[in-house]
Amino acid sequence: MFDARSLAGLIATHSHEQVVFVADAESGLRAVIAIHSTALGPSLGGVRFWHYEDESAAVLDAIRLSEAMSFKASAAGLHVGGGKAVVMLAEPFAPHPDGMLRALGRAIDDLGGRYLAAEDVGATPHDMDVIATETRWVTGVDRGRGGSGDPSPMTAFGVLCGMHAACSTVFGSRTLTGRHVVIQGAGHVGAELARLLVALDARVSVADVDERRVAALVGELGVAALPSEAVFDTSGDVFAPCALGGALNDETVPRLQFPIVAGAANNQLAHPEIDDVLVGRGILYAPDFVINAGGIINLAAEFTGYDAEVALRDTARIELRTGQIFAEARNQGIAPGRAAERFARERIKREALPGGRFRPGDATAWTNGLPLTRLRPNT
Ligand code: NAI
Repeated sequence: MFDARSLAGLIATHSHEQVVFVADAESGLRAVIAIHSTALGPSLGGVRFWHYEDESAAVLDAIRLSEAMSFKASAAGLHVGGGKAVVMLAEPFAPHPDGMLRALGRAIDDLGGRYLAAEDVGATPHDMDVIATETRWVTGVDRGRGGSGDPSPMTAFGVLCGMHAACSTVFGSRTLTGRHVVIQGAGHVGAELARLLVALDARVSVADVDERRVAALVGELGVAALPSEAVFDTSGDVFAPCALGGALNDETVPRLQFPIVAGAANNQLAHPEIDDVLVGRGILYAPDFVINAGGIINLAAEFTGYDAEVALRDTARIELRTGQIFAEARNQGIAPGRAAERFARERIKREALPGGRFRPGDATAWTNGLPLTRLRPNT
């Protein structure tokens, strides 16, 4: 557990603008909302429902995740910043009482649009609808109501773009045709990525701890199945981590037999030095927050009236951007993950709003001058 001094120190170390504790006696809500940066626009990030060991763990999670969102949004060229809300629950996947969701909605509303909520682990579309009864600052509208819908296909497309950039750098050709890609995690993004790769005539192998998901993809696409523990003892052209964070760690990286790592999972590096270890092993790592930004690009496209073509076009830019980051890493003699963070930080500095932060009321600041059309309509 932190004492108040170390907590303030933690917030200062990561340069957060604001960390808000939320509690509601009646509904039992216990939550933390972290706003890392609004220098480029209001902070955007998911609401995560999770079981934490203690409050310190929840605060740390909110702090780290919101900082990562700032880098992701900045590298994606968006006019939003990074934020995150975490709700502490003993049973995060049990239905969430409406009273608790409404209390959270009121807390989000009090922030006046400096934090825009979206779905994250443990959240359902129903949860977001209930939160939206108390605040308009909720994104992620389903397709049926003119919104952006499930972000996973766009995330998978962005990852594919990042893979093309990595292939250009390593093989001198962007093509994935005939390349062997091993996907760890056959969930929403992993399955969609497999479909895109098969359509390009890549050779695809898939592993998941849930064997039914692998079997479904084998049946649908004719991909090869791998036991989940075998991915680090298999060779191929591209390893695509699409399961949980921390896949690249001190134990797994020495075993990796791929010249490229490019996948969707957030926080793939167990610690920052893994970036350098990968360079040392001659493996090109496509920074996770750069290539998995398709989902947030898709979400941000809602603000001015969702247009799938625009979202697709903006996501396709990931290929060029990833290539630029590889080139910068090479020129500066640093690992790609570090180059990506530098790239994101520099844009935040260069393009910061007057005063360095977003103030409620200035909607055009975060739509790059375009008129704001909608957030989530009240239901
Ligand atoms: P998901 O929950 O649909 O799929 C994850 C899959 O990984 C599940 O099938 C699970 O069984 C499997 N898995 C868990 N541990 C594993 C292991 N050790 N080995 C093999 N498989 C394992 O999640 P989703 O939405 O596909 O996201 C995948 C990753 O991408 C997550 O890290 C997520 O944070 C990240 N991400 C997702 C975005 C989206 O648009 N859905 C956007 C940006 C990042």
